[in-house]
Amino acid sequence: MNNETLWKRREAAIPRGLGMMHPVFATRASNAEIWDADGRRYIDFAAGIAVTNTGHNHPAIKAAVAAQLDNFSHVCAQVTPYEPYVALAEKLNALAPGETPKKTIFLTTGAEAVENAIKIARAATGRPGVIAFSGGFHGRTMMGMALTGKVVPYKTGFGPFPSDIYHVPFPAPYLGISEAASLDAIARLFKSDIEASRVAAIIIEPVQGEGGFYAASPAFMQALRSLCDTHGILLIADEIQTGFARTGAMFAVEHAGIEPDLMTVAKAMAGGFPISGVIGKAAIMDAAGPGGLGGTYGGSPLGCAAGLAVLETIERESLCQRAIEIGDRIVRHCEALRQSDRGIGEVRTLGAMTAVELVVDGDADAPDVARTAALVAEARKRGLLLLSCGVRGNVIRFLAPLTIPMEQLDEGLDVFSAALKATAG
Ligand SMILES: Cc1ncc(COP(=O)(O)O)c(C=O)c1O
Repeated sequence: MNNETLWKRREAAIPRGLGMMHPVFATRASNAEIWDADGRRYIDFAAGIAVTNTGHNHPAIKAAVAAQLDNFSHVCAQVTPYEPYVALAEKLNALAPGETPKKTIFLTTGAEAVENAIKIARAATGRPGVIAFSGGFHGRTMMGMALTGKVVPYKTGFGPFPSDIYHVPFPAPYLGISEAASLDAIARLFKSDIEASRVAAIIIEPVQGEGGFYAASPAFMQALRSLCDTHGILLIADEIQTGFARTGAMFAVEHAGIEPDLMTVAKAMAGGFPISGVIGKAAIMDAAGPGGLGGTYGGSPLGCAAGLAVLETIERESLCQRAIEIGDRIVRHCEALRQSDRGIGEVRTLGAMTAVELVVDGDADAPDVARTAALVAEARKRGLLLLSCGVRGNVIRFLAPLTIPMEQLDEGLDVFSAALKATAG
């Protein structure tokens, strides 16, 4: 079994619609390292797309899941409830920003959390409309796609989508979109497309993930909060990529000091065990009638046990603080590279949600998509797994586990520098 033979089997057995960033097959992983089927070792700056913030195979998480596995792996929370589900909900309710009492429901994937947040928002307000942002990503289900603000590849050929979904520009100064322009677009939407009184919710990623790691400023998040309050609209923070210490706080909205009505969480909440959730103000969460929410695997016992261990690990290992240290270190490294490489247009971060935007000769309007792809391939050849992203496909995002030893972070950054040099025009 090696990468080449596995690749042939994959091509024959799996549809091409399932994208793939690195044609190397993982066989083993530990903290921030992955080994492939050819026995090669990689430093992992992908974390399974922002999932293993606590590293691969963290001993505390493994032990918690093993202990739960000894008890049972599935009974279905809608058939016979179990304590880890309640305990994890209690913990998240206490951690969620704001003083309003909270409730939490667990699902399985991020997209499913988004689906449920919209269901709850519509049930609570009796309104149909939802406003999302261009460049945003909210998942691959029908509602997830409808809310996602990027057509290729996520929406191509898959419509029609649910109705009453509207997009406005996400504020991204580097792309020439100001906060005022974004807020203006919402005001115009209320005049031209849907009256505010028919809008159930505005959903926003506090830092766009797939869209390119553009962060909404605290002032913008506060403006959205007051706009929502004025019109009786619910504010949904999609924290699926930003959550669980990644941005230097448990949740990214904390940087803005606001309380969202609903939050969607998934990915890093259980270190790789599939579980997601909607956390929200209790009265809103209770709007849906009995039986209206749920799913066979929602809040799986293994996911709940892992989630509880993840929260303890974040606390015990001070991972919010560590995210800030990691982000600072990557920014310093990349800013130094930017001095001598005009291909790096911008370096940006919130905690350890760090990205560099690659452009041609310092021109923000000339995204360097080819170099971005070449850089990802070159880094892999040299033993570093990177991820690209961005509405224009020209952003490298750094998502190392927050538990990565600093010397491995530096080793990875040195590989990044070498690969960057090798791809300079
Ligand atoms: C912000 C955001 N929302 C939703 C999703 C969808 O999550 P999942 O892939 O678990 O369905 C993602 C996944 O990347 C995401 O980043």
